[in-house]
Order: sequence, then C-alpha cells, then structure tokens
Amino acid sequence: MDQFAIQLIHGRTHISPKRLGNPGPSASQKETILLAANAAPDHGRRVPWRFIEIQESSRPVLGEVFRQCLLDRDQEANPIQQQEALDKAYRGPLLLLAVANYKDSNEDISKQEKLISLGCAIQNILLSTYALGYGSGLSSGRALQSDRIRALFKLMDEEEPICFITIGTVIKNKPYRIRPNLSEYHSTF
Ligand SMILES: Cc1cc2nc3c(=O)[nH]c(=O)nc-3n(C[C@H](O)[C@H](O)[C@H](O)COP(=O)(O)O)c2cc1C
Repeated sequence: MDQFAIQLIHGRTHISPKRLGNPGPSASQKETILLAANAAPDHGRRVPWRFIEIQESSRPVLGEVFRQCLLDRDQEANPIQQQEALDKAYRGPLLLLAVANYKDSNEDISKQEKLISLGCAIQNILLSTYALGYGSGLSSGRALQSDRIRALFKLMDEEEPICFITIGTVIKNKPYRIRPNLSEYHSTF
C-alpha cells in the first residue's frame, strides 16, 4: 500500500472537541470532506445516512438543548455544570451530526448494514479531514438519545442520531494512542 495511505490510516487519532479550534476547513475543503462520505460502501445504494451541519447561528439553540437534557437527568445540576453542557455546542469550527436512516430495513438490507455504511462514511470524513491537515473528534453522550435532539433536528421516525463530528485545527494533542494487537482481533479458521 502506498505510504501516504498507511500514514493517513494510522496517523489519525481522536482529538477532543475541546482541543479543536479555528481555523476550520474552507468552503471548498468542507465540500471535499463531505464528498468523501459518498465513497462509503453502501449496499443497495440507499444512502442510509446524512450529515447535518450545525452553523454558528444554531449553536445557542443546540447548547440550550444540551443544558435542558442535563436538567432532565439531574434537576440539581449546578450553574457550572449547566454552563459546561451549554459550552459543548460551541466547540470546533465545523460541527456535524451523523444520522443513520434505517428506512425499509425490514427488506433485504438490514439496519446493521446501514449502520456500517454510516461508519464507513464517517471514517472517510475523518481521514479526509486529517489529510487536509485538520483534526477531528467524535462525541455521543446521553443527550443524543433524547426527544429534544430529535425535535431540534426534525429527525424522521426511521432516523437515529449516532454521533457528532467536530472538525478544526488541533490546538493541543494527547500522546499517540496505543492500538490493539493484531492477535486481539484476528484469527484463522
Ligand atoms: C460512534 C462513536 C462515538 C464516540 N463518542 C465519543 C465520546 O462521546 N467521547 C469520546 O471521548 N470519544 C468518543 N468517541 C471516540 C473514541 O473514544 C475514540 O475513537 C477512541 O478512543 C479511539 O481513539 P482513536 O480514534 O484515536 O483511535 C466515539 C467514537 C465513536 C465511533
């Protein structure tokens, strides 16, 4: 395999959204990143996923949903905790929500296959981001399972929010992560 591909695959690491700052990708770089998603394997070519970009102007309303979700879980959350929940919506110059679409999963293409396709699309996004010199991080959290998030993003019944993807310039990075050994996930039959 080409050295660039090896470096790309093994060099990418999760960067905490807190450590992703400006500048973010330019408009054309953003298009390159998003177009990488459509190269994902997709059985039946259903495009069983979509990515919603949360613009700057929408960060306050998302932050408020995060804060409300925290209060749903813990009515006694203090103002500092509430502010932390709110702040999460402001991290990173480019913020995407990855959404799986399981429409017609009872037919020949299962929900699992659709979710795998989304995972591949996400990885294509992460690798393209890294190739362009930016960092990325995935985040989930309990708010994603809430009706508040579904309502905010007007998700359809057959859709499921999977994770946020934050993209930006790496401000600070943690030491390189130790990867699992081959023997942990490979066997012969
Ligand atoms: C669907 C999904 C959701 C994730 N959500 C979180 C999260 O909420 N918080 C977090 O720190 N990392 C999250 N991660 C990132 C993983 O923690 C990270 O990929 C893992 O630690 C491996 O590190 P690496 O990506 O650098 O190899 C998520 C990863 C996936 C695939």
